[in-house]
Amino acid sequence: MKTTLSIIKADIGSIGGHIKPSQQLIERVREFVQKNSKDLINDLYVSHTGDDIALLFSHQKGTGNEALHKMAWEAFVAGTETAKEQGLYGAGQDLLKDAFSGNVKGMGPAVAEMEFEERPNEPFLFFAADKTDPGAYNLPLYLAFTDPMFCPGLMLSPAMAQGFTFTIMDVEYTEGDKIIELNAPEDLYDIAALLRDNERFVVESIRSRSTGDIAAAVSTSRLHNIAGKYTGKDDPVQLVRVQGSFPATGEILSPYSIGHYVAGFMRGSHTGPLMPVTINSSVSYFDGPPIVACHAFCVHNGKFTEAADAFDHPFWDYIREKVSRKSVELREQGFSGIAMLNYSELEYGGIVEKMKRLDKQFKVRK
Ligand code: F6R
Ligand code: MG
Ligand code: MG
Repeated sequence: MKTTLSIIKADIGSIGGHIKPSQQLIERVREFVQKNSKDLINDLYVSHTGDDIALLFSHQKGTGNEALHKMAWEAFVAGTETAKEQGLYGAGQDLLKDAFSGNVKGMGPAVAEMEFEERPNEPFLFFAADKTDPGAYNLPLYLAFTDPMFCPGLMLSPAMAQGFTFTIMDVEYTEGDKIIELNAPEDLYDIAALLRDNERFVVESIRSRSTGDIAAAVSTSRLHNIAGKYTGKDDPVQLVRVQGSFPATGEILSPYSIGHYVAGFMRGSHTGPLMPVTINSSVSYFDGPPIVACHAFCVHNGKFTEAADAFDHPFWDYIREKVSRKSVELREQGFSGIAMLNYSELEYGGIVEKMKRLDKQFKVRK
């Protein structure tokens, strides 16, 4: 049977700053979907990561389905009412357009979707990150799908011997989807040359070269491209199918042991290490650190099992300590150099005004 998985997620308000949504808000969104999704979906899973609420749907309508996107948009609009009633901070923050227009892509919420013929057993992972942007997944995807140091299956399993095709998007281009397809392993150095620039080039999807099957799909939206100004970090989601002709769950997880530095953290304007956290975690120190949660499922005849919490294991406590240490070490140098993002990535327009004012004060010495 053909199944589509869709994640649609948004920040529509939170308690105590940009920390986590209220329980009442989450329940309002869940109830709205439950009431309005008859004949539309096979299953629903609602979670939050930091201040973002993610709706994971299983359905048979294919990717980019207008009715499903509309219903999800309306669920976030309904949730925003609750957020306003409760006086939550940043109510409706990610709903950047006034009216729904065909597809929630480009309207604020992040979307990751894939359609496939269900295998007899269909394990997959749903990742959600907060206080960072889609480029945060570049390195873990590169390592898990191209590097036998992290994914021994690439050398041990005949099903993966032909490698994977990466579709990479230039997210700076705003007239449409500007994409390139590159094959691992032949194009490895070209893939690396693009993916080193996390703010501009982002993995959109990955396919198996032996079967053509979709392996991974990532949300690629950049909110500041939609709003024309910075309105918060993009807090990306992704779906990854695992096992068989795809990397094993542990191979996909293994690069998250690095705690690599990503863009985001306080005011979306800093660099910080990505911390793997348990499901429904919030953020804290310096509005961070940037976090990623991983929900592992099987889907069968369109129905989800319960989620296994992939980073809820003593091993990841050790990594979380390491990431905490890396966070503090980088924060010790405050605003200086790589601790903060480039001028074009800073969240607040105030600095633009400041630089204009200072520019006028500069003099060229004769
Ligand atoms: C980062 C983030 C927070 C806020 C910060 C200030 O993505 O959401 O770090 O930028 O708490 O928030 P405002 O400007 O809403 O007071
Ligand atoms: Mg927020
Ligand atoms: Mg967020």
